[in-house]
Amino acid sequence: MIRRYGGPEVLRAETVPEPVAGPGQVVIDVTLAGLNYADLHCREGSYGCYPLPAVLGADVVGRRRGDGRRVAALLRSGGGYAEVACAEPAFTVEVPDGVSDEQALALLEQGATAYGALTLLGRIRPGERVAVTAAAGGVGHLAVQLARELGAGRVLGVASTEAKRDFVRSLGADAVFDPADPRLAELLGEAGGVDLFVDSVGGGVLRSGLAALAPFGRLLSVGARGGPEESFSVAELAEGSVGVLGFWLQHVLDDRALFADVAARLFGLAERRRLVARIDRVVPLAEVAAAHRAMGARETMGKVLVDVRA
Ligand SMILES: NC(=O)c1ccc[n+]([C@@H]2O[C@H](COP(=O)([O-])OP(=O)(O)OC[C@H]3O[C@@H](n4cnc5c(N)ncnc54)[C@H](OP(=O)(O)O)[C@@H]3O)[C@@H](O)[C@H]2O)c1
Repeated sequence: MIRRYGGPEVLRAETVPEPVAGPGQVVIDVTLAGLNYADLHCREGSYGCYPLPAVLGADVVGRRRGDGRRVAALLRSGGGYAEVACAEPAFTVEVPDGVSDEQALALLEQGATAYGALTLLGRIRPGERVAVTAAAGGVGHLAVQLARELGAGRVLGVASTEAKRDFVRSLGADAVFDPADPRLAELLGEAGGVDLFVDSVGGGVLRSGLAALAPFGRLLSVGARGGPEESFSVAELAEGSVGVLGFWLQHVLDDRALFADVAARLFGLAERRRLVARIDRVVPLAEVAAAHRAMGARETMGKVLVDVRA
């Protein structure tokens, strides 16, 4: 729980009354909660904050009270880092037997973001050259795998350490670059340029991606690390015949049939081991602050989970 916005130290494990379900909500006995980069913004009070005092945590997996079914849910008002959470039925999906709690949780928020961005907005076509930034991250490592699965011809990654780049190569990326490399735009632009650039970092990396786009290429932003907003002139985009797009998962969630379809596709791929989420670590509730520190320090690869019962 947080009682004020600030650094990781504001996260405290506390015993509080169980949350009361709102009209129509389902109650979930949580087994695992997920960490998302947005939790860090929320904790700092910089973006997407919940009113205080707040229980952070935007995704959970557990058992639905009433029927005992195993479900995963996205919580748009937080409440995930807890033993019991209340969720909207529209944002809750049943988890098939062939998908573990860990995989289901790692795939739902970040996988739906990667899948939605690549298909609904990026409209990826077979053979296209796709580049992904923060490619070892929760969204990124799924985007790399999904790009391959969806028929990308060439997949490029951007990741900040050699260990991360090795990991991204192990996912099937053809080449992986350092975001700090001054030649980033040039390297990304080799072999005909990038058709679809999926970015969750912003700033100079986004600018390099824009410069590396092939004619008819699309730059697709799913997030940013703060800093000044990038600006583009329409003339600049027209000169390159390129587009800049932004994606927010909420618009998938607003359409229950679409969300259920995306979740079913992700779980189907997971059951066939065509999509495997990497679990970076599983921490007890008492160590959530340390996990926030690690994510903020760019130390994590894949998904960080919280075992709320440990
Ligand atoms: N649009 C949506 O609906 C939606 C939904 C979910 C998530 N997102 C966004 O997707 C992005 C990825 O989320 P995630 O939870 O999967 O996180 P993540 O990618 O696992 O972690 C963030 C990564 O960003 C990179 N990064 C670059 N500059 C950084 C900096 N100054 N400080 C910290 N990290 C930096 C790091 O990778 P390197 O060290 O390799 O650069 C880091 O590992 C976030 O921007 C998030 O808000 C958007």
